[in-house]
Amino acid sequence: MRTVRFGIIGLGLMGREFGSAVARWCHLLEMNARPEIVAICDTNNGLFAWFRDNFPTIKLVTSDYRQLLADPDVEAVYCAVPHNLHQPIYTDIIAAGKHLLGEKPFGIDQQANAAINEAIRRHPQVFVRSTSHFPFFPAMQRLCRMIEQKAFGQIIEVNSGFLHSSDLDPAKPINWKRIVKINGEYGCLGDLGMHACHVPFKAGWYPRTVRAILSNLVKQRPDRQGNPTPCETWDNATLLCDAMDPDSGEPFPLTIKTQRIAPGETDTWYLDVKGMKASARWSSANPRRLDVLEYTGGEQCWRRIDTGWEAAFRGITGGIFEFGFTDAVQQLWAAFLHELTEGTPKSRFAACVTPEEVAYSHRLFTAALASQANGTVERV
Ligand SMILES: NC(=O)c1ccc[n+]([C@@H]2O[C@H](COP(=O)([O-])OP(=O)(O)OC[C@H]3O[C@@H](n4cnc5c(N)ncnc54)[C@H](O)[C@@H]3O)[C@@H](O)[C@H]2O)c1
Repeated sequence: MRTVRFGIIGLGLMGREFGSAVARWCHLLEMNARPEIVAICDTNNGLFAWFRDNFPTIKLVTSDYRQLLADPDVEAVYCAVPHNLHQPIYTDIIAAGKHLLGEKPFGIDQQANAAINEAIRRHPQVFVRSTSHFPFFPAMQRLCRMIEQKAFGQIIEVNSGFLHSSDLDPAKPINWKRIVKINGEYGCLGDLGMHACHVPFKAGWYPRTVRAILSNLVKQRPDRQGNPTPCETWDNATLLCDAMDPDSGEPFPLTIKTQRIAPGETDTWYLDVKGMKASARWSSANPRRLDVLEYTGGEQCWRRIDTGWEAAFRGITGGIFEFGFTDAVQQLWAAFLHELTEGTPKSRFAACVTPEEVAYSHRLFTAALASQANGTVERV
């Protein structure tokens, strides 16, 4: 079994998720590689203790990411920092010759993303990928297999989205994800958009044009001291896109919704594909359930499939048990290590987001901003 020695930059919400996925790597069977955390970095010293207490393999603890990059022991880096830091830190990681799993949106805007892609071009020996773990839910893996098998026939319509409701409370204090300078002008699109684009892009359903309606519903929030502060980011985005079905050569409507204020939704990601031969829909609100309608000319009838733990990367969990968020995060890591060490993804949809897919998401989100500003349909 090959060991890949990792450094983590950014030990917040997602940094700890990676730590937890590493700590229970024995959960996965049949992996040829495993991650080992050898170095950690955050500017907040208060986050070191959890890692120190749980990972005896850590040899370097620092608040200066350059020190982590200078460590020859570090082969690969997971970087989960605020969006304004993606460009400077990701380009330094790549220039240091370290493999990178960088969090989305992979640059605060299109210019920052282009600079990261230029660094990738200059260092072709470095393996770079980005994140979205939702396609790893078993029901979604089944839906994705239907895409690979061309089971849908000509595509009629696709709806993909990611909905939260934690910002419904206007008294929720502002954090960096609601500040344009740190989160970026994309607002909720930068934060949530890649999740909703991941499967459509891997399916080859790339938007050609977009009409976007973006809303800033809560324009002011209290800071940590309770003082009212401007909250300028887009809370909700609805994108109506014209996409092309690569198999039939025909256009179809693709909607992408990302909302931070979607009443009643805790963390709902959904995909709904309607085709001439079959349709399927999945939502993380009921994660084990996949609805499928196969049309053979007779009566139209939805079948409900209750999936178990049928992950892309096999694990110890019994086949009838439930699969959850933390499993999906670990599957994403398995996909990263598989592709890093084997040279190819396990399958088209058991794979991380590629730099090309991220670059297209920036084209889409930039066009969406122009569409909102001008009230126009924009080319992507
Ligand atoms: N894949 C997902 O489902 C998912 C979910 C949430 C967030 N994210 C992404 O992960 C990234 C981080 O988000 P988060 O929710 O973990 O944020 P967070 O605020 O919880 O963590 C970010 C961490 O970065 C640290 N940091 C800031 N400046 C730094 C520097 N110069 N050097 C080292 N550390 C520094 C902060 O102290 C903080 O601990 C973002 O890109 C976000 O979009 C992804």
